[in-house]
Amino acid sequence: GGDEDGTSGTSNTPGVPPLPVIEGLTPPEDLNPDPHILEVDLVARPNAVALLSGDLTEMLNYNGQFPGPLLHARVGDRIVVHFKNELEEPTVVHWHGLRISDQMDGSPMIQNPVQPGESFTYDFVVPDAGTYWYHTHFHQIEQFERGLYGGIVVHEQEAPVFSAERMFMGDDIRLNFRNQVAVFQASGPDVGAGRVGNIVLVNGKPINDEGGPATFTMPRGAIERWRFVLATNALSYGLRIRGADARVIATDGGLLPEPFALDQVEIAPGQRYEFEVRPAADATEVVLEAMILVLDENNEVVEAPFEIARGTIEGEVSTAEPVYPTVTLPATDVQAENHDWKLSGAVVDGKVQFTINGVPAFVGEGHEHVVIETFEPNVPVKITLSSEVSPSHPFHIHGQFFQILERGGQPVFEPGLRDTVHVRGTETATILSYFENPGQWMVHCHISEHSENGMMADILVG
Ligand code: C2O
Ligand code: CU
Repeated sequence: GGDEDGTSGTSNTPGVPPLPVIEGLTPPEDLNPDPHILEVDLVARPNAVALLSGDLTEMLNYNGQFPGPLLHARVGDRIVVHFKNELEEPTVVHWHGLRISDQMDGSPMIQNPVQPGESFTYDFVVPDAGTYWYHTHFHQIEQFERGLYGGIVVHEQEAPVFSAERMFMGDDIRLNFRNQVAVFQASGPDVGAGRVGNIVLVNGKPINDEGGPATFTMPRGAIERWRFVLATNALSYGLRIRGADARVIATDGGLLPEPFALDQVEIAPGQRYEFEVRPAADATEVVLEAMILVLDENNEVVEAPFEIARGTIEGEVSTAEPVYPTVTLPATDVQAENHDWKLSGAVVDGKVQFTINGVPAFVGEGHEHVVIETFEPNVPVKITLSSEVSPSHPFHIHGQFFQILERGGQPVFEPGLRDTVHVRGTETATILSYFENPGQWMVHCHISEHSENGMMADILVG
């Protein structure tokens, strides 16, 4: 519960400190006066958005906002979402990364998709602090590209205090010359590699063409917390921050036991990072930059950096050092059974059919998932994911966290809890999970064209 106008910056209840404001995204109206319950209305409906000058872009959004409202709570709080489907087709809402009950997870295998005009109440307690997000999990190729997603922040009980907190959701969208979402291809490169947009968006605003990076001011002496969600369909970014001393403080599953200095980190679709950012002594601006790899005119792979957000240094503050809570991650130096998940695909009758361990999820309207594995809860298991079809699979496991141990059989430094791992090219990635959350869970590539054409299955835990 927040105050009447729904902002999260105030709380009138003694003993419950207000949640800090998160710059960049807009919270919804909180319908519940209980400070431990966030209760909101969420409506999926068509929405016309002024993305570029000229024609409005016909999108599908939550509450007529793009991205959808920022759900902001404290770990242990209850979130109640009165969801209504005002689309012309069924949909479900998935809370990406939250380790809640499978009944509330937005899996179309468990929850009957919400039919047009119908409602469903999602009701869960948020178990883990961190940066998460929500999105449609039905006809995802179109519904997700058309803008059905939003952010979630779950604050720590003893949260470190910063001079400001910001959140950025990165995305891209492919628009035609009339500013409309371009037609979807059922075959070809969009299916092979996943559809990539021609307009880069940050918090729903275009930053190329007429846009420019998100801008704000930052005083010298600031110590800020920046959260980044990559909501692209297919493209991974290298993230770096110029003009600051920046540290990586959190990944998908919350704070790290030990922050480390940010040089450049790779983020794949679905993943999150949090950074602690201090303007450098002589800096005039602090710039969050994304780097992608493109082919130049000689067909050489080159770096193509672009600016996502720019903070201009203005004024001065003095900020107390943030105090981070002690974080311990599950042990990784354990004996664990090794499982292999092979991500593959083939052209069957002129259509691409993607598979996990040779099993395709039913393609098309049925959305049937096959259970490929059963795990005992709280028993560590290593899974080696390999891709037999390039180029890239950001692979997501619902309702669980894992840690990334190896790539190509070699140990890697990719600390922190994850719910999504980038399986790059034909390199293997080995993860370790304790499968702590019983239930039936989807596992899939986060590239919609891959998952919806078969690279999606279920696992059972318990
Ligand atoms: Cu964010 Cu099943 O996905
Ligand atoms: Cu994939």
